[in-house]
Amino acid sequence: MPGDRLVVAIDGPAAAGKTTVASAAARRLDALFFDTGVIYRALTLAALRHGVAPEDGLRLAGLARHLDIQVKPPSQPDGRFYDVWLEGEDVTQQLRDPEVDRAVSAVSAHPAVRRALLDVQRRIARSGRVVLTGRDIGTVVVPDADVKIWLDASLEERARRRQRDLAAQGIERSLDEVMEEMERRDRADAERAIAPMKPAKDAVVIVTDGRSVEEVVEEIVRLAGGG
Ligand code: DC
Repeated sequence: MPGDRLVVAIDGPAAAGKTTVASAAARRLDALFFDTGVIYRALTLAALRHGVAPEDGLRLAGLARHLDIQVKPPSQPDGRFYDVWLEGEDVTQQLRDPEVDRAVSAVSAHPAVRRALLDVQRRIARSGRVVLTGRDIGTVVVPDADVKIWLDASLEERARRRQRDLAAQGIERSLDEVMEEMERRDRADAERAIAPMKPAKDAVVIVTDGRSVEEVVEEIVRLAGGG
């Protein structure tokens, strides 16, 4: 019998395969999967729509404190894990817009923004059996998580995956362009002063180049005491 509580924290850079691996591991572990990046993306989209600059930490923190976001069961069979509603509108797809990609690191670098979004993430972490993905779950959001994973892959491999995902949405980008954009975002996430993206000291590092999804999921399920 699985216990009532389990927190598996999976952190790592953009397009390392966190969503694919974490959602499959959550199914196996009878746990909820939640990607905390969605919250930062929703705030970024709200900022773009309300004309708040990604540099304006004060106004962004105000937006974050009153962010009208809801996560609902998926309405479309397009591989999404949930619908994300912002201010009464389903924005699940818009969260992946290149404009959001470009601004999200700057938005999420403000200490006041991160403080404002901490509570909601911790509430989700305490809600039962969960697999959470992000950049600072194992280091800041849930430092006492049962299992901490740092999921990584080479820049080229990650860029290829992102290029494929974008193509599936009808957005054609060259590999160089995707790599450049991704490197810029990783650098910003890793170099920010507060809660920088980095492996927790006690994280298990998994590099996914050349490894199958099944193999990686199996390793995580085993570390979480399931399977
Ligand atoms: O995982 P993602 O690409 O959807 O994340 C988008 C951005 O959100 C990422 O570039 C940095 C930020 N983020 C963060 O700072 N902390 C988290 N726990 C999750 C995401």
